[in-house]
Amino acid sequence: MKEFNEYLEMVNQAVANLKLPVQPAGLYDPIRYTLDCGGKRLRPVLTLAACEAMGREPMTAIHQAIAIEMFHNFTLLHDDVMDNADVRRGRPTVHKRWNMETAILSGDAMLTTSTMLLAIKAGEYLPSALELFNGTAMNIYEGQQYDMDFEQRLDVTVEEYMEMIRLKTSVLLGCACGMGALMAGADFDSQLQFFNYGVNLGLAFQLQDDYLDTYGNPETFGKAIGGDILNDKKTWLFIMAMNEDETGTVKALIGNNENPEEKIRKVREVYDRLGLPDRIHELIRAYIDTAISCLDQLNIMPEARSFFIDLALKSATRNK
Ligand code: IPE
Ligand code: IPE
Ligand code: MG
Ligand code: MG
Ligand code: MG
Repeated sequence: MKEFNEYLEMVNQAVANLKLPVQPAGLYDPIRYTLDCGGKRLRPVLTLAACEAMGREPMTAIHQAIAIEMFHNFTLLHDDVMDNADVRRGRPTVHKRWNMETAILSGDAMLTTSTMLLAIKAGEYLPSALELFNGTAMNIYEGQQYDMDFEQRLDVTVEEYMEMIRLKTSVLLGCACGMGALMAGADFDSQLQFFNYGVNLGLAFQLQDDYLDTYGNPETFGKAIGGDILNDKKTWLFIMAMNEDETGTVKALIGNNENPEEKIRKVREVYDRLGLPDRIHELIRAYIDTAISCLDQLNIMPEARSFFIDLALKSATRNK
C-alpha cells in the first residue's frame, strides 16, 4: 500500500493528462477551472487504494477513479446552483464566475465525460462498473431532490435526514471503494464490504460537512459559512435544534433572511446551548467505527487495513 499523497499524485497526474478540447471555450474553460481547483480528491484515492488492497496495481483503476472524480465535480456545479452558493474551494463558483447556463451545460459535459472515462480499459468489468456507477448516480439525484424538498418542510426526522445524506453523498464514497475492488477482480462480497465501508465513511463525512458549514473556518473550508442555515437546510444540527430548543428561536427564523448574519449567529447560539457540536462528533465517531468494522469482513493485508482506518479517523476530524 502507498500513502494517501502517493495515490493523490496519481490522480492529479491523470487529471492533468486529460485531453479536454479547447473550443468552445465557454464549455471547456469552466471544466478546467473546476478540476484545477483541486479539492481533496478523496473519492478517486479510495478507488485506487481499494484496488491495491484487493491485490492489483492501483493504476489498473485510474480511469474509473477519475471518472468518479469528474462525476463528483459535475454534481458540485449543479449543487452550487441549487444551493445558491457563491464560493467553493476558495474561489467563485462556476455560476458566479460565468453564469447559471454555463454551470448547467459544463456540468452536463462533465457528466458525459465521466461515463466515457469509466469505460476506458474497463474490459470485462464494464457492465458491472456501469451498473454500480449509474445506480449511484440515480441515488445522488434522489438525495439532492430530498435535500431540496426538506428545505420546505418543518417535520423532517433524523431518520429521513440520514437517508437523504446516504443518497446524496455516502453512496458515491461507497461506489468509489466498490469500484476499486471491482477493477481488482475481487468477488462480489468483498466489493460489497468495501461499498459498506465507504457508505458509513460517507455518512460521517456529510455530518462533518454540515458541522463545518456552521463552525468551519472559511479560509480552510473554502466555502461560505452559514449557507445551510440561510437555506433552511434540514441538517442534523438544525433538526435537533428544532426538536429541543424550547425558546422556538430556530423555528421562528425559518424563511426569514432579512438579516443573514444575525440569523446565522442566533441559530449557532442555539446549537451551542444544546451542546450540538460535541454531540454531532459523537455521532460521527459512531459512523466511523461502523465503517472500520466493515473492514473486519475483508481479507486484506494489515497495512491496507491501517490505511483505511487512518483515512476514516482523519475524515472525522477534518477541517476542510
Ligand atoms: C463536497 O465534497 C460535497 C459533499 C459531499 C460534502 P468534498 O468535501 O469531497 O469536496 P472537494 O472535492 O474536496 O472540494
Ligand atoms: C452535497 O451536499 C451533495 C452533493 C454535491 C451531491 P452539500 O450541498 O452539503 O455540499 P457542499 O457543502 O455544497 O459541498
Ligand atoms: Mg451545496
Ligand atoms: Mg447541496
Ligand atoms: Mg455542505
